[in-house]
Amino acid sequence: MYPTFYIPGIGTAWMMGIIGVVHVVASHTSVGASFLFALLETRAFRQNKPELLAFIKRYGAFLLVFSYIIGSITGPGIWYAITVASPRGVSGLIHNFVWVWASEWVYFTVEVIGVYALVYLIDKVDARTHLMLTWTFAMASWATMLLIVGILSFMMWPGNAIWYETGRAADAFFSPNFFAQLGVRTGGMLVMAAIVGLVLASRVRDRAQRREIIRLVAPVGLSGGAIAVLMFFAYLHTLPQNAIVMLNTHLLPVYGREMLAVFIVTASWLMFCWVFPQRVYTSLAVPLFVLIAVAGVWPEERMRESMRKPFVAGQYIYGNQVIARNVPGRGIHDEVDRIAAHGLLALHPFIPDRLRVIDDANRLEAGRLLTRLACANCHSLEPGGPLRSLPDKLHRATDEDLIAAFLRGPLGHGTQPYMPRIDLPDAEVRAIAHYLAAVDAGKDVDRLIDQHHKNGR
Ligand code: HEC
Repeated sequence: MYPTFYIPGIGTAWMMGIIGVVHVVASHTSVGASFLFALLETRAFRQNKPELLAFIKRYGAFLLVFSYIIGSITGPGIWYAITVASPRGVSGLIHNFVWVWASEWVYFTVEVIGVYALVYLIDKVDARTHLMLTWTFAMASWATMLLIVGILSFMMWPGNAIWYETGRAADAFFSPNFFAQLGVRTGGMLVMAAIVGLVLASRVRDRAQRREIIRLVAPVGLSGGAIAVLMFFAYLHTLPQNAIVMLNTHLLPVYGREMLAVFIVTASWLMFCWVFPQRVYTSLAVPLFVLIAVAGVWPEERMRESMRKPFVAGQYIYGNQVIARNVPGRGIHDEVDRIAAHGLLALHPFIPDRLRVIDDANRLEAGRLLTRLACANCHSLEPGGPLRSLPDKLHRATDEDLIAAFLRGPLGHGTQPYMPRIDLPDAEVRAIAHYLAAVDAGKDVDRLIDQHHKNGR
């Protein structure tokens, strides 16, 4: 167990979500663009159209500034955010996939050097060498995506029950969910690349050339969209049971329409560009890029995060860091029953001594700490907080017995498919209920606790 980190207001998971969305937009655009370049350049080479290279150069320089800088800042940003938000989740991933990540970094290095070489070597090396360089860049970019998708799909679940016995990285990596998600993202990256490509194409002055580029870029985006949609339906069939419950009860009702709307807008825009390449104005292309990027990626990432609840990785690490089952292949043991018997305050190493044993004087503070440990990874603790705010979920109930009954009932038995089994000794249940009731009643709990410390001194 590690110290618990909580960002007041938005919650740690939202911080992760915001960084993640920016990263996905930048990284998918750059991977997609690498393929677009490879296709464009192959045509430039075969049909001897060097003017297409000027477009590649312009797009490549834009990519260097936009995607690579933003991607390289947000990539480590994700590492920092997940390390504090979910240290055990990250540890689980690293222990399974350390070599996968090492390989990913090798490909990423090739990709970064590749994009510089691609932009700066146009006209400086012969066309065939440059074409080979571009395809190497594209393959290295896609390889980074492929490797990361294996890790992401393990977060949903290993897919093969055999992994729990063998603990082998290959059993954790290759699952139906991996192949389906790779398809969705591969299609999605082509869409993103086309949408950004249209922004840049709209700035090409020569009309004939602009038309030619748009007529190349738009169908690539449309085919990518078709692949993404087909693979998304396949993806839905590769989900574990808890994810399907979450999808049907909580996610599709909220995001279903938005996703459909984004799909219709994207498809219409790409078709419009294909049919009327002369009408592709920058003033239209830029807002559509922003809209599609944000409205398209946010629900997708949000759903993927929500669907795997109550787990953060591999269906064995709960969102609140507790190990939920035995994994003999890795020598990992279930902790839920031990916590039920001894309590979090006794077992967790990062508990101030004054809170190890609950009494009337420290109940509120112990309750705050326990709630952060047990619930805050998935719930904002403030009324109106964006991440499934606990006070809102409890309908601001101020009856401690009622809250305690929920904790002992559904949570204690683990009967909610999307919430962990949080079975705690009675004193800890009462402390959580005491704290939540105070928050629900609108009390400024942090100030009360501070005051209590001052008075005690
Ligand atoms: C691993 C993530 C996770 C943890 C940890 C967690 N919850 Fe939840 N909880 C959820 C999800 C997911 C929902 C579904 C609600 C939604 O998404 O709108 C939920 C819903 C709820 C609800 C609404 C009733 C319901 O069943 O939908 C309450 C109340 C609640 N949680 C209380 C708690 C409390 C109290 C704790 C800590 C003791 C806790 N939860 C810990 C994920 C979690």
